[in-house]
Amino acid sequence: MSTILGIESSCDDTSAAIIKDGYLLSNVIANQSVHMIYGGVVPELASRAHQQNIIPVVDQALKKADIQKVDISAVAFTRGPGLLGSLLVGTSFAKSFSLAMDVPLVEVNHLQAHILVHFIKELEKDKNIPEFPFLCLLVSGGHSQLVVVKDYLEMEIIGQTIDDAAGEAFDKCAKVIGLPYPGGPVVDKNAQQGNKNAFTFNKPRIKDLDYSFSGLKTSFLYFIRDKVKENPDFVKNNLMDLCASIQYTIIEVLMDKLEKAVKLTGIKQIAVAGGVSANSGLRNALLERAKIYKWETFIPEFKFTTDNAAMIAITGYYKYLKKEFASQDIAPLARFPY
Ligand code: KG4
Ligand code: ZN
Repeated sequence: MSTILGIESSCDDTSAAIIKDGYLLSNVIANQSVHMIYGGVVPELASRAHQQNIIPVVDQALKKADIQKVDISAVAFTRGPGLLGSLLVGTSFAKSFSLAMDVPLVEVNHLQAHILVHFIKELEKDKNIPEFPFLCLLVSGGHSQLVVVKDYLEMEIIGQTIDDAAGEAFDKCAKVIGLPYPGGPVVDKNAQQGNKNAFTFNKPRIKDLDYSFSGLKTSFLYFIRDKVKENPDFVKNNLMDLCASIQYTIIEVLMDKLEKAVKLTGIKQIAVAGGVSANSGLRNALLERAKIYKWETFIPEFKFTTDNAAMIAITGYYKYLKKEFASQDIAPLARFPY
């Protein structure tokens, strides 16, 4: 029997979750609205908000799971990648909890954790779980990667962005047309009522399985600047079509490389993970290709796409089973490879 407390604080969500023998008992997330007016996450404000939220969030996670602190077998925390000040809050909390309760400390790679959401079990819910090896398109605000998942804790990155992440492209393009942060979900919502072929943007030409999104963001910025010069109401009059067209371009870039990865590896079990995997266009594009190419797809529930501690707790659970524990002198890492 093992009951894992997971702690996530890598960016702007403070979260705590309890996983017992692989089953999720609670997953509490405190979002930080303080960043909205700045159009992006302000690191110092994020750290302060984590500091305020961490104790209440853990307290709620324990209450919702209907367990006591003494029932916890180990505490797992996000070591990185992320904002250092934010990571420090979760790391310090986890170390203190481990010392105070005399339970093992487990470090977790945030990116690996995004992928392992596919293994979170919930009571009275059936779930289709991928078999190893499978391919995962991991698309978040900070990362875009194609990963071959060989086992719970054995993953190989076969492609990744050389500059901006897909989520960053959504957020930056949204900012150009005056939409609030985070832009991804707002673009998604508007795109559903727009024409994806209304405007065309050049897709980047990058070799192998790597991605690039910074050129797309810049060409979108220049395109809007020129159009607004001609007509100050251009964005207002074309908002839905602009969202649909830029979203379509980002998704096609992601899908092109995914198709290439399937051809190269021969793996036809395809999962998606990370904040951008909440995107309705991406989900549809994946399902369409799955039909054509006979892929078996794994798409996480919305609640497991963006940052959450359930993913940290499930990763912690698999590391706990292998007795992969961290020592008290461990420090968080802003950049953290697997
Ligand atoms: O995984 P996540 O919560 O944090 C990181 O680890 O980065 O991902 C956040 C990113 C943001 O860029 C946000 O705009 C994007 O996920 N996102 C979306 C959607 N929901 C969240 N992007 C496109 N469509 C969505 N529906
Ligand atoms: Zn994340």
